[in-house]
Amino acid sequence: MAKKRVAVLISGRGSNLAALIAAAEAPDYPAEIVFVLSNRSDAGGIAFASQRGIATAVVDHARFGKDREAFEREMQTELERRQIDIVCLAGFMRLLTPWFVGRWDGRMINVHPALLPAFKGLDTHERALAAGVKIHGATVHFVVPDMDAGPIIAQAAVPVAEDDTPDTLAAQVLKVEHIIYPLALRLVAEGRVTVVDGRARIAGRASSTSPLVVPEAG
Ligand code: GRF
Repeated sequence: MAKKRVAVLISGRGSNLAALIAAAEAPDYPAEIVFVLSNRSDAGGIAFASQRGIATAVVDHARFGKDREAFEREMQTELERRQIDIVCLAGFMRLLTPWFVGRWDGRMINVHPALLPAFKGLDTHERALAAGVKIHGATVHFVVPDMDAGPIIAQAAVPVAEDDTPDTLAAQVLKVEHIIYPLALRLVAEGRVTVVDGRARIAGRASSTSPLVVPEAG
């Protein structure tokens, strides 16, 4: 089967982008990262992708003022031009309108640095520590119009240590993000994930590819 053509949308450093690119280098990986789009020209991931010969573009949201849809229409044009099958949000820091989300229904996924539905939104590690949770983690989910609310495809947990700070916890969570994001993209690209009653169901789960709980990723 032809590999799915994937665009990764970023706003910053791009470590999840790098993990996806690395995974997609495996010959049997069902997707290829063909395009990286950022709303910020200074996003580190843009330079990283161009060094690897991947097409990149910047659509600066600031040019569009408050008109979110105009910004998204330009992104949509870029994505269509490159015949993208699947969009991965990886640290993309713009809220998306129902119009754009609808264009990519079932074909757009996001990584969130918490065990959803806990800790939606920003500053997840600070809030996890303040809440005193003993287990934290990461989630990859389909994108729906409500923020951080779509069907969950994969999750991984990390233990919270007594002396964790938001930064040390973020570093632990980031390690498992880099494991579950390529895993989730593989499952979606293979067509193994369907959404039934708002929940993602994964066909033919094998132990090697199941959504994971990773007690210690090191
Ligand atoms: C990650 O923690 C991701 O979960 C969140 O933003 C961060 C992006 O990091 N949405 P990077 O740009 O992939 O390194």
